[in-house]
Amino acid sequence: MSNAAPHVLECVKVEKTFNDGTRELRILRGLDLAVDEGQILAISGASGAGKSTLLQIMGTLDRPTGGDVLFRGKSLAKMDRASVNRIRNRSIGFVFQFYHLLPEFTALENVMMPAICMGASRKTCRPRAEELLQKVGLQDRQTHKPGTLSGGEQQRVAIARALFNKPDVVLADEPTGNLDERTGQEIIDLLWNLNQSDGVTLVIVSHDEGLANQAHRCVHIHEGMAHIKSG
Ligand SMILES: Nc1ncnc2c1ncn2[C@@H]1O[C@H](COP(=O)(O)OP(=O)(O)O)[C@@H](O)[C@H]1O
Ligand SMILES: [Mg+2]
Repeated sequence: MSNAAPHVLECVKVEKTFNDGTRELRILRGLDLAVDEGQILAISGASGAGKSTLLQIMGTLDRPTGGDVLFRGKSLAKMDRASVNRIRNRSIGFVFQFYHLLPEFTALENVMMPAICMGASRKTCRPRAEELLQKVGLQDRQTHKPGTLSGGEQQRVAIARALFNKPDVVLADEPTGNLDERTGQEIIDLLWNLNQSDGVTLVIVSHDEGLANQAHRCVHIHEGMAHIKSG
């Protein structure tokens, strides 16, 4: 229906071709994919299929070589750079396989970092950062630096950081890829709880079948296209 709410994110015939100097690598080949509000979407696919490439494009960290990404129905291709930056900073949260925390800063400071980078003061950010660390079960690790935290704890800090600006969507690239099975399941449980309690919209890249089966919708990337597995 034309008056239906637009998808949070929508890939429309997204293409991505890399040139490695000798030949063209057509990684994404006209990929269509929509993410709805409140949804958990899992993306699976073989290594090298283009999952990270797709997530970077959906997160505005990279641009497609063809097609378009719509954020709440608005074309990113047609948007000026400042507007795209605003969407990236305010509306999209990122979680990576290797956490990407800043080693010199405490857990609390890492969580506040997205807001501090946008000019907010530590004092105003602190209550929300504390609340988020509590939410991910790390209220007693506020002053710890990443090097003194376990992998699972570091990923919890990264999740709290991703949520700081109340993003419209959180994009997670193999968030359990560096964790043992049990710790990985704890991270999955945390993300699913956040979806249940706060309606956080999640796009999760994983080759973990268990994770994919727990998602609301699951697509498989193959030969540069998204194939619906479920949902
Ligand atoms: N900046 C780049 N330049 C050239 N090739 C790239 C670049 N980024 C990714 N690729 C290639 O694109 C393919 C898909 O990569 P990626 O999206 O990381 O796959 P996945 O996350 O599914 O394992 C790989 O063959 C990779 O080598
Ligand atoms: Mg990848």
